[in-house]
Order: sequence, then structure tokens, then C-alpha cells
Amino acid sequence: MGTKGTVLVTGGAGYIGSHTCVVLLEAGYDVVVVDNLSNAKSDSLSRVEQITGKNIQFHLTDLRSTRAIKDVFRQEMIDAVIHFAGLKAVGESVEIPLAYYQNNVGGTTNLLEAMLEFGCKNIVFSSSATVYGDPQTLPLNEDCPLSAVNPYGRTKLYIENMLVDLAVANPAWNISILRYFNPVGAHESGEIGEDPLGIPNNLMPYISRVAVGGLKELPVFGDDYDTPDGTCIRDYIHVLDLARGHLHALEKLEQDPGLMIHNLGTGQGYSVLNVIRAFEQASSRAIPYRVTGRRAGDAPAVYSDPSKAERDLAWKAQLGLEDMCRDAWRWQQKNPDGY
Ligand code: NAD
Ligand code: WQD
Repeated sequence: MGTKGTVLVTGGAGYIGSHTCVVLLEAGYDVVVVDNLSNAKSDSLSRVEQITGKNIQFHLTDLRSTRAIKDVFRQEMIDAVIHFAGLKAVGESVEIPLAYYQNNVGGTTNLLEAMLEFGCKNIVFSSSATVYGDPQTLPLNEDCPLSAVNPYGRTKLYIENMLVDLAVANPAWNISILRYFNPVGAHESGEIGEDPLGIPNNLMPYISRVAVGGLKELPVFGDDYDTPDGTCIRDYIHVLDLARGHLHALEKLEQDPGLMIHNLGTGQGYSVLNVIRAFEQASSRAIPYRVTGRRAGDAPAVYSDPSKAERDLAWKAQLGLEDMCRDAWRWQQKNPDGY
């Protein structure tokens, strides 16, 4: 028995989930993982066990099955849930929206029903800065207007609304909604990291693949934005900082706060060219790139006001762009073909 209780981590074999498992195990929690391995390999969990010297109880379970998720609650004594499981590719969500509604909204509904039935009322949910849509003002704080610009974003908004409804219906629920900005980097060991299938959609894994020689050059999606160097600005956050943010949120839930919503970002924006330069420094490799057209749906600049999390959760990002690039590169070099 861990001293602190048992946390169910849905999607725990995935990128952010696996890093959060490390942080939870190191903090003394017992960890149960549910994942259908649709976008992950169970090797990530073996690596987490190696890093921490602790065991994870793994269930190969799909949240789209109410029966299967209830079975997990029947078998384990769960004190709190951190809910990462879901699909996350914006472009794919436009092509196959129903899969997004089924996995994200349907899967979450099933999970919440199981929690209700088994009397577990503590949940941390992975939301996203995507719920702010195309920002009208910067930096983004938690009171900024919400909107969705694609089906993926709409699933996150619907789930946030479901959680708010649940908190209204029953104040005994303790719910933490965390809106992540752009998670990048990897555990400092280089043993776990982001392992996208096929050609990466996101900037940092794409750059890493170019650096390691797996892809020829990076397409830079537009250099004619109204930003200092013309490329888009984002708030990149080290995945370990993000994982620690979940630990702080979980500890806050133990104090019975009801519903809370927080941004998890650094508050610092970097352009695409800034990231390329920082990665070149960290890897001592040149990153060939070519400026292509803009990508549909990209906002010129997105960055957070992270002060609410600092105030309420006593959490602040510690790691900078250099650390993010160094750790992404170490993971990529040690695992050129992923897990
Ligand atoms: P990921 O794909 O690596 O992890 C998600 C995990 O959920 C995968 O292991 C996948 O196999 C699992 N999964 C998917 N559908 C499932 C289902 N129906 N039943 C059981 N397991 C299922 O993604 P990630 O980057 O670790 O993201 C985790 C969460 O954070 C997601 O909800 C995502 O939307 C959210 N998020 C991610 C980012 C990002 O840029 N990575 C940003 C904001 C929010
Ligand atoms: C970052 C910047 C691109 C790839 C996405 C989701 C968001 C959230 C985080 C889940 C942008 C540029 C990228 C490339 C490039 N995910 N870029 N060439 O779009 O900010 O956010 O992940 O919730 O919802 O939309 O992240 O890494 O795709 O792009 O020039 O090959 O890099 O234009 O400016 P994004 P990203």
C-alpha cells in the first residue's frame, strides 16, 4: 500500500500520463492505469516501473465500455482519478468527428458514471488551451471567453461543461480542470517521452525527428504572422512541470475544494524560429526547415497567464525552453524509433 492512496490514471500509458505516473509513484501514491493502447505501448509503463522501482496495476480497458470501466472500480479501491484518456489530433478530429465524440465525451461519461456508482468523487481532467479558441486578448487567463474551432476542441468544451454540471448537481464532487498549453520534452532519464505514430503533427516531435535524420526538413507553417519574427508564438511547457501540476491539483482535491479550473503554462511565449534555434543549440545539429503556407486554424499567438495555478495550487513551471529541447533530444537519441 502506498501511504497516500490509490490514483486511477486513465490514458496512463500515453505521453503525459506516463510522466504523471512517475511523479505520482515518487510522491507515494499507488497507481492503477487504464488504457486501451490505441495511441501508446505498454513499454512506457514498464519504463515507468524501472525509473521509479515501483509497480503499476495495468488494465487493458477501453473507456467506451461502461461495463469494462466499472469492472476496474470493482477490482480496485480508487481514491481519485486523473483522466488523460482520449483522442487528441486536431486534423483527425475534423475527418472522423464521431470517433472523437465517442472516445472523449462518451468515454468520459462512462468513467463518471462508474465513479458515481463506486462513490469516487475526486477527478483531475486534461483540458486544453484549445478551449480559448482564437484568443482575443493575451495572456489567456481562466476567465477569458471560451470557444471551439474544431471537433477536438468541442469535445474538451463539452467535457468541461459536463463536469461543471456535475459539480452543480452534487457539491460533494471535487473536480480539477487543467487547461494545458503546449506540453513538450521528456523525462530527464530519456527512458520515456512522446512517441507519435507516423509523421508527427506537433512541432517538437517533428523537429526531433528531423534532428535524428528520420525526416528531411521541418515545414514552418507561415512566417507572415503579425509577430516579431512572423512565425506563430506558443507557450511550451515541460511535460515534467505539467505532471507536477497534476500532483498539486490532486493534493488540493484532498482539501475538498469543489470545482476548480487552472491554466498550466509557463506564461512565456516562443516563436517557431525560437524553438528551432533552441533545439539546434541543445542537439548541436542543424535543423533544415522550409517555410510553407499557413496551417488552417493556427492562431498567431497563444500563451497563458499562469498566476492562478501559482496562487491556488502553489505550482509554477520550473523548466525552460533549453531544458525542454535537451530532454526531448535525449529521449529521441536514445529511442530513435520510439518504444
Ligand atoms: P496520448 O495519446 O499520448 O495519451 C492518451 C492515452 O489515452 C493513450 O495512451 C491512448 O491509448 C489512451 N486512450 C485513448 N482513447 C482511449 C479509450 N477510449 N479508452 C482507454 N484509453 C484510451 O496523449 P497525451 O498527449 O498524453 O494527452 C493526454 C490528454 O491530454 C488528452 O486528453 C489530450 O487531449 C490532453 N491534452 C494534450 C495536449 C498535448 O499537446 N499533448 C495538450 C492539451 C491537452
Ligand atoms: C506549434 C506551432 C504551428 C508543426 C496543438 C493543439 C492544441 C494542443 C496542443 C491538445 C504552431 C507550428 C507545427 C510543424 C510548424 N493539443 N508548426 N510546423 O497547434 O499550438 O497546439 O497541440 O489539446 O489543441 O492544437 O501545437 O505543436 O502543432 O504547433 O511550423 O510541422 O508550430 O504552426 O505555430 P498547436 P503544434
